[in-house]
Amino acid sequence: MGEVTMRVWRGDPDGGEFTDYVTTTCEGDVILDVIRRIQAEVAPDLACRWNCKAGKCGSCLAEINGLSRLMCMTRMNQLLEGKPVVVAPIRTFPVIRDLVADVSFHYATPFTRTPWPNCQREGDDTRFATTTRHPNKRRSWGTPNL
Ligand code: FES
Repeated sequence: MGEVTMRVWRGDPDGGEFTDYVTTTCEGDVILDVIRRIQAEVAPDLACRWNCKAGKCGSCLAEINGLSRLMCMTRMNQLLEGKPVVVAPIRTFPVIRDLVADVSFHYATPFTRTPWPNCQREGDDTRFATTTRHPNKRRSWGTPNL
């Protein structure tokens, strides 16, 4: 168990600033574990979004030391020891609060796209077409559209 300084952005669409939290880490901790520990111990109002904690959903996306990364997949031991870990909301999307960004654009985009089969030209090969019925449904690659 070691001590680490987490420099976490706190704020809303009108602005904010980084706040330092000194907390402990355990072997195998990922950034999300440490953020949740901060929430449990000192900052219960710290907003942070996550769902799967398995690198599948993307909801924990944040900027960690200036790079966009998943908080649930970034191990503490991958970062420089002895330096503060800087965690900020992802810049691509507008901030809602603290580490939570409004990613609704990302989920709405598939509904605005024309499914690929409709864009097909005469003579195109359909063997490698994707099925694009609904963005939340699993896509199957390499399945012919029947
Ligand atoms: S919580 Fe789902 S990707 Fe991190």
